[in-house]
Amino acid sequence: MGLFDRFESVRRLHGRISSCGADPFAVRMEKVLSPTEAIIEGRKTILAGTNNYIGLTFDPGCIDAAVQATAAEGTGTTGSRVANGSYSGHRRLEQEIADFFGRQHAMVFTTGYQANLGIISTIAGPDDFLVIDADCHASIYDATRLGSATVIRFKHNDPADLDRRLQRIADKPGNKVIVVEGIYSMLGDTAPLAEFAEVKRKHGAYLVVDEAHSMGVLGATGRGLAEALGVEADVDFVVGTFSKSLGAIGGYCVSDHPEFEILRVACRPYMFTASLPPSIVASVSAALEIVRTRPELRRRLYANVRTLYDGLAEQGFRLGPTRSPVVAVHVDDPELAVGTWLELLKAGVYVNMALPPATPAGTALLRCSVCAAHTREQLETIVQTLTEVAYGNGLLSLPRRAAVA
Ligand SMILES: Cc1ncc(COP(=O)(O)O)c(C=O)c1O
Repeated sequence: MGLFDRFESVRRLHGRISSCGADPFAVRMEKVLSPTEAIIEGRKTILAGTNNYIGLTFDPGCIDAAVQATAAEGTGTTGSRVANGSYSGHRRLEQEIADFFGRQHAMVFTTGYQANLGIISTIAGPDDFLVIDADCHASIYDATRLGSATVIRFKHNDPADLDRRLQRIADKPGNKVIVVEGIYSMLGDTAPLAEFAEVKRKHGAYLVVDEAHSMGVLGATGRGLAEALGVEADVDFVVGTFSKSLGAIGGYCVSDHPEFEILRVACRPYMFTASLPPSIVASVSAALEIVRTRPELRRRLYANVRTLYDGLAEQGFRLGPTRSPVVAVHVDDPELAVGTWLELLKAGVYVNMALPPATPAGTALLRCSVCAAHTREQLETIVQTLTEVAYGNGLLSLPRRAAVA
């Protein structure tokens, strides 16, 4: 048995996909020009497949902060904070994040993946229960493997199912820790957090919310879905990332738990990896200040969401259930989805391709993401291009609304 023989089915599936003419999982950005444009295969292409929701990757203040921090403190820390020491910027950033969320404690991690891996695997021990939404991100699933708690999945976004599953373990000792997300990355739907909070209170459980796709996007001050729904007091741990709205890389967890700080010497994905470099710490700090002081970016983002979501819905595309910066187009036939994706790319529009069995909906998805920096013209081009491709290849066949009217 060869070392990689067990990947045969993945190899076959990947071979079928790339035989369509291009590999959606190996796109090369020859040059990134702005938050919304790149050169791909020699063509200027509109980017509608990022997580750059408020468009901060080219913000001059963030770039300047990163450059200055590199000049002052070097390119990297070369080690973990526990073994090799924290830079003053790490602690300062943690204070800024704690203040932003109005919490007592914050810890930063080197990626959002590691924040989930670390927090979720550490807070629930061998006698505890992790009760996770079935559609949670891979980093949450991987955390359940790293940790030692008993894992229970409940039906996506279903508070009644969560309640039933907690009821079944009600007389078992051990803490119950519920894990959900704010906005889900593939379909763009949001968690019914108020209902989950009620179930959490009923069972005396803890609640962890991953606001990776909702921080900077939702809530009056950009703190995410819990803020938007007024249930922050019920959330015991907020986890998130610097790689989406904040335009950099890294992750965080905030909490008011009085013993939170023990995690710094108990959480392996925090302890055994190099810490964030000064450049990232500085650019994230500048980006956080922008999220805090420029709510108009969120308003612009949501105006853009309406243009794209409503524009595609009007043309008859089957979309995710919620108007959010993740606009997912369902395509039942995976080969048609890959063909559509490729034609879009050739026409100068880049979106993400997601295929079953990895998709929550069970269908292929063309995942389009919206950025506050998209112009109306770019968004109209995305709608028009997708519509033309879809009529050309049979993805859409009914008469267009406009033609009917
Ligand atoms: C819901 C969710 N949590 C965590 C992560 C991991 O974040 P990062 O890419 O910053 O490691 C992602 C990344 O896509 C995500 O979608």
